Amino acid sequence: MSGKYDVMDDTSRLILHRTPRQDVAKGITIMVKGEGVRLTDKAGNSYLDMEAGITRPVHIGYGRQEVARAAYDQMCQLHYFSPFGYANEPAIDLADLLARITPGDINRFTFECSGSEAVEAAMKLAKHYHYFRGNKACFKIISRKGAYHGVNGYGVRALGTVMPMRQMMEPVAPGAVYVEPPYCYRCAYGLAYPDCDLKCATDIERTIEFEGAELISAFIGEPIMQGFGAVSPPREYWPIVRGICNKYDILLIIDEVICGFGRTGKMFGVEHFGIQADMLTMAKGISSGYVPLGAVGCTDKVMELIENFLHLHTYGNHPVACAAGLKNIEIIQSENLVDNSEELGQYFLDGLKALEHHEIVGEARGRGLWLALDLTADKKTRAPFPMNRIANLISRAKQLGVIIKSMGCALEFAPPLIITKEEIDEALKVIDQCIAEEERNMRI
Ligand SMILES: Cc1ncc(COP(=O)(O)O)c(C=O)c1O
Repeated sequence: MSGKYDVMDDTSRLILHRTPRQDVAKGITIMVKGEGVRLTDKAGNSYLDMEAGITRPVHIGYGRQEVARAAYDQMCQLHYFSPFGYANEPAIDLADLLARITPGDINRFTFECSGSEAVEAAMKLAKHYHYFRGNKACFKIISRKGAYHGVNGYGVRALGTVMPMRQMMEPVAPGAVYVEPPYCYRCAYGLAYPDCDLKCATDIERTIEFEGAELISAFIGEPIMQGFGAVSPPREYWPIVRGICNKYDILLIIDEVICGFGRTGKMFGVEHFGIQADMLTMAKGISSGYVPLGAVGCTDKVMELIENFLHLHTYGNHPVACAAGLKNIEIIQSENLVDNSEELGQYFLDGLKALEHHEIVGEARGRGLWLALDLTADKKTRAPFPMNRIANLISRAKQLGVIIKSMGCALEFAPPLIITKEEIDEALKVIDQCIAEEERNMRI
């Protein structure tokens, strides 16, 4: 049946599209094959994937048969049994591996089907933590404006304020509290680092006092932030946030859904900042997208008084997903992909910095293989670059065979961690060309 369709235009009656209607009308590309960092679509066009599957899970690249075999073997052995009252070996083995590679004392794990579910579980766990310590009223969660933590109820609560999704889903679960993000290029306070004295971090304390510390269960944030495009905070930011959470007995949930498993040049993003999280949420790179898998890890301190974590769903701790995740992490380790992310990330960043001479490029930034070019309509005022022009840039790059995407008014890059220098050079050439063309178009 699939042979009938070349673009999703024809199939849009069949698939509930998650794309603006006008883009569906133009025709949505159907990808049919992936190998390494390259994709082929139904019409036979080939692409260099600089976004690891757009949502950025594909750390080990496409077409890895080792992972397929691990999933196949587990399906033949035991494809499913209840996560309630029973355990399975792949889930135990994966928890054991994660306990060894996650930073600090994170050593208890639960496995979910996505990042959104991991965030949901972590937030429920935070509520359990306070409940079993006698604080039953605690229900608020602090996140940063512009953050994204998934599509489920609690995650939507923590979406921040930029995404139209939140407005669509309002009213969100009560208890959402937002603070300013550490987005230095366009600081919400109009300050400049280091003279700002990290106001975006220290101000959190004032928010807590205003909201009532006894009502706040957790602070959630990505170590390096997706919103606005690969925003890495100053090195003092997370230690200050950690200190404030300690002072008010608020759990710190570090959302590693994108950063985890080598994306930023360390196995986990939080390692750049030398702090201990109370919980980590993980997904994407945990399985490189071969199977749906998410996880929450927490310290003993979080679990010690919780009698029973009331979060039950059919596919928790799924043996096939855990077996595939295990094999994927083994590949990340045995092929030194975290080091590759650090080294080639620096190489790529140097190449992007060389594009800062363009009049629309405000700042090149990021860590490891998670990088961005923040675009601006005016370098002096740092005015945002028009969204329609960013869309032109992205579709031109696709025409030239390179897949990239935008976050806010930044171009974002997050290739598979197996990428080579030659492939980065190929992408840089196309990015440079697309920016130059867009600049010319703007002058006409
Ligand atoms: C930081 C972060 N948390 C949570 C999520 C939700 O993950 P998923 O899309 O797997 O539900 C995402 C998705 O991009 C994310 O970037």
